[in-house]
Formats: sequence, C-alpha cells, structure tokens
Amino acid sequence: MCGIVGYFGPLEAKKVILEGLRKLEYRGYDSAGVSILDGPHFKRVRAEGKLKYLESRLAEENFSGHLGIGHTRWATHGAPSERNAHPHEVRGVSLVHNGIIENYLEIREALIEQGAELTSDTDSELVAHLIADEVEREKDLLAAVIKVLPRLRGAFSILVVWERQPDRLIAFKDGPPLIVGLCEGQALVVSDVQAGLAYTKRFVYLGDREIAEVLRGPVRFFSAEGKPIEKTITEVKWSSEAAEKQGFSHYMLKEIYEQPKAVSQALSPHLHIEKSEISMDWGQQDWDLTKVQRILMVACGTSYYAALTGKYYIEKLARIPVDVDLASEFRYREPVLSPTDLVVTISQSGETADTLAALRLAKQQHVKVLSLCNVKGSTIDRSADGHFYMNAGPEIGVASTKAFTCTLSVLVCFSAHLAKERGRLPKYLENEIVRALTELPGQLELVLSFDKYFSEAAIELKNHRGFLFMGRGVNYPMALEGALKLKELAYLHAEGYAAGEMKHGPLALIDRHMAIVMLAPADEWYEKTISNLEEAKARGGQIISIGTVGDEKLRQLSQRFLAIPRAHWAVNPILSVVPLQLMAFHLADSLGHDVDQPRNLAKSVTVE
Ligand code: AGP
Repeated sequence: MCGIVGYFGPLEAKKVILEGLRKLEYRGYDSAGVSILDGPHFKRVRAEGKLKYLESRLAEENFSGHLGIGHTRWATHGAPSERNAHPHEVRGVSLVHNGIIENYLEIREALIEQGAELTSDTDSELVAHLIADEVEREKDLLAAVIKVLPRLRGAFSILVVWERQPDRLIAFKDGPPLIVGLCEGQALVVSDVQAGLAYTKRFVYLGDREIAEVLRGPVRFFSAEGKPIEKTITEVKWSSEAAEKQGFSHYMLKEIYEQPKAVSQALSPHLHIEKSEISMDWGQQDWDLTKVQRILMVACGTSYYAALTGKYYIEKLARIPVDVDLASEFRYREPVLSPTDLVVTISQSGETADTLAALRLAKQQHVKVLSLCNVKGSTIDRSADGHFYMNAGPEIGVASTKAFTCTLSVLVCFSAHLAKERGRLPKYLENEIVRALTELPGQLELVLSFDKYFSEAAIELKNHRGFLFMGRGVNYPMALEGALKLKELAYLHAEGYAAGEMKHGPLALIDRHMAIVMLAPADEWYEKTISNLEEAKARGGQIISIGTVGDEKLRQLSQRFLAIPRAHWAVNPILSVVPLQLMAFHLADSLGHDVDQPRNLAKSVTVE
C-alpha cells in the first residue's frame, strides 16, 4: 500500500518527509520520491527500490525548502520504475496518490486527444494533468481540486501542491487513509499517524470524500463539493518510540515479545478481576444483543482466522449461531441478511478494502455492524455502528502477531459477555474464564522463554519438502494461521488443515519429507488429535507437536515437542500460536528474508 507524507513549516521539508516515509516502509513499496519547493519551483527526486536509493540520489542534489510532498509507491497501474514513481508534476502542480482511479483509461485518452504529454504509465499522473489544467483557469488550487474530483471514479486519496500557492497542501480522501497532523505553525499530512508522531499527537482523520486545505497551523475542511465541514480531533495515545524497534532486530520480533503486555492491555477494559467479572462496552448503550439471532463475522487473512476462532468461542459459550466469511467473498456473494443479524468486522488496520466493502454492504441492508479494530479512528472503525478494540498498540510488522492474540483475547471476553447477557454463563464459568485470562499474560511470558526451542525446530523445518499444520476444534484456526505465517514470511508453501480431514485427502501427501505441525494441547479434542498424529507418523510424517507441558505421550510421538503451559481450552490457541509465530520468524530470518516487509505484501490492503 502506498505511503504519503506532506509537510510545510519552519523545518527542512526533505528531512521531515524522509523520516515520515521511513515510518511508512512497513506498508510495502517498490519505489519512492519527494518534491520540495526550492525557490519558485519544485525540485523532484524519485528512485526505484527502497528508500536508501532515494536518499543517495537526494544526497547528490543541493536543494532545500519548507514545503514538500513525498511518497512510497506500491505499483498498481504501471510497473515499478523511476518514471512511474510519485510525485507526478505537471506545469507547477505536484501530486502524490494512493489508490486506484478506475476510469483512468477514458481520462488518458481524452488527455492524449488534447495533446497532453504523458511521461508515465500511471493513473496518478493523469490527475496532476487535470488539476494543472483547472488551476490555470481557477487560479486557486482548492477550487481546481473541487472541479476535478467529480471526473474521477475509484478509491483514491491525493495530496497536491502548486508552486503558485506555496503556502498550502490540499488533501482529498476517498478510500485509503489520509490524516492531518495538527501542530502549531506547521502543516503535516500523512497516510498513517506513525509518520507524524514525532511532531504531534493530535490528528484529524479525513473521512471519505473530504478535503483538507492545510496551511501553516490553521486547517480548513470541506466536503468534496466545497462545503465547509467540522472535524473532530483525535488525540493519539501512542508514543513515537512505541513504534520503534527498541533494540529488537525486527518490528515483528518486538511485537511477538510485546504480546504479554499487549494482551494485558487488550483485556483490561473488559476484565474486572476484583469482582471476577467480564464486561464489554461498544459505545451503543441502547443495543439489546439478546435479540440477535445470528452473528456474521467478516475479515481477511489473519483476522479471518481470528474470526474462525471466535466462532468456536461464541457458539460454545453463548450458543448463538455464527457464520464466518472472507470479506472478499462476502461482498460479492449477495449474502442473505436479516434485521436480527449482527455483523462483526475484524481488522487490525481498519483500512482493509474488502472488509470495509463488506461493512458497507451490511449497512446498506440495515444490519448493525460491530467493528473490532486496532487503529482507532480508522475508516472501518469510524464507519461501524459499534466499536471495540484490540488495544495492541502500533503493529508495524506486515505479519500480524500481537494484534491477533489481542483479538482472540477480546473475543473470549465478547463471547462470555454475550453468554452472560443471555443467562448462559454460570458464575463458576465466569470465574474460570476470568482466572484463565488473568493468568494469560504470565503464561505468554513463559512460552516466550522457550524461544530457543522454537528457533531450533524452525531451522529443522528447512529440510522438508512440504508443511502441513493441523489441529481440531478451536486449534484448527491456529493451524491455518501457522501455515499463513510460514507462507508470508519464509515463502514456503504450507497448508493448514482440520486434523480430522486428513483421511479425506491430505494423508496421501504424507511421507518422510513432509513436516507435520500438530496442535495438540490438553483439551476436549486431544484424543482424536493424537489419533490423527499417529496416522501421520505411521506414514513417515516428521512430527513437530505443540502440546501441554508434561505430556510424555505426545513427546514420545514427536520428533520435536514444543510445550505450552496447561490452560483453559479457550486460552490454548492464544498460547499455541506463539511458537508458530516464532518458528516462522526464525526460519524466514535464517533464509535472509525481509521479515518486516515480506515480498509482494503490504501491511494494510486498501485496494481490491
Ligand atoms: C497477516 O499476517 C497479514 N498481514 C494479512 O493476512 C492481514 O491479516 C490481512 O491483510 C488483514 O489485515 P487487517 O487485519 O488489517 O484487516
């Protein structure tokens, strides 16, 4: 996903913008560029590849200025190259863009017809041409942007500057996030608060089809039609250093090790230890969820696996039917919804396009939507009717870790709360769950202390041709998540399966070249899982098992036995996913992969 940083103020714009772009590197990109107003004109430098190439190109140049825009590009239209990198400049207008202009072909043909000289293959450059044409007529950048917007279709955010009005940045958002940082005497526009935290903690999240005219200090907000609008200011609690690596080799490793603290943070609004109670608050006091007949959980990737786990939690504890959908499927399968449904979206970034589209579809059908996000103020968070949060703190590594375990922890509370509301959670069971969740952060610390065993197991994985992750019941989604971590980090093909499914096909895959990662903690599914493990072992499968400490039988059956503390069935997945995260991390790192920014991936997929 592209990254945008714009600055205007007393500091050297080049420096502020590069710092900000570095904070956005985790989003994934293939080229970058900056434009700085140096005297009457913009000076632009762009480079393919990582920021270090842009920085070395900038070091050869000798220009400076206090107004500028910068961009990290994740190619959609036009291959990754310097000519397609942003900013795009046309007759004194300089623009950066995130998203997709769907009607770019007709715009491109019209511009060529009019004799425009196009210098790239991108849709973004076309917008710069349209604005340059309009600003020559309007003599005002804001007016020109308002005139051009109705001609654009798609999901896009743009930041544009004009050398003849060198005191402002104009930002427009419709889809990908764009946020204004409020700081005295300075102007800041960023794609993610991380890029602005060094200068302010006060931000305004632009809503869809909203414009900001950002001057040095004052900011004016408008609708796409130019009508002034009021916006609320969000105070971001995260500190700038919270988003740093703090001595860890990678953001991902830091975030894995932050899980005990993050989970404790996630639980604290819902866990009342002194009263041994669980409660939830999603900001809608008038909601009576006892009327809900069905819950539909919708998400993507790792968040989808969290939703699958939530299904087990909610159906076992609250006895409410739960359907779980991939957002990219839900949005196009014409789901049959009813007013007694509740849709729950799960999204760490709160910007995933498919999940946002699913949310909008549900709302169009007048179904209540409850959002579970990590980023407060994100588009999904602001678009939902009710909200609760992962409270994981900033998650920079593309591979989601602490947000996942925080989501699972909050889903346990959510399920217990739903059960309580329906009189289905006897006090002894509530006490049991409160105790299990209270012990969870300490148990996570204990699991993390076994890291060297996970690292050894990981390196051994390299010797195998295939990887099957398996589990039953609430451990099955962890098998899917473990396989995804290996795919997205080590670039190795792995599959997650319900262990009971083996005899329906996967058993044919198993021989001594196949690594089997079996999730078999002490729980109600244990015996059946052991049978599946023995089936795999009998065919030569190399068994790495994750089970409850002291389980000698499992240890004997495994080439590698990785122990987690004895815990409540609902907590086992939260503990057993940590060895899977660390195995994938160590294997990927040993292969020399860019663990924080795996190839082809972005932290938040804000385009289809
Ligand atoms: C998980 O490690 C990946 N980063 C990816 O599958 C991610 O979970 C998915 O894109 C959903 O992102 P979201 O939670 O921000 O919506």
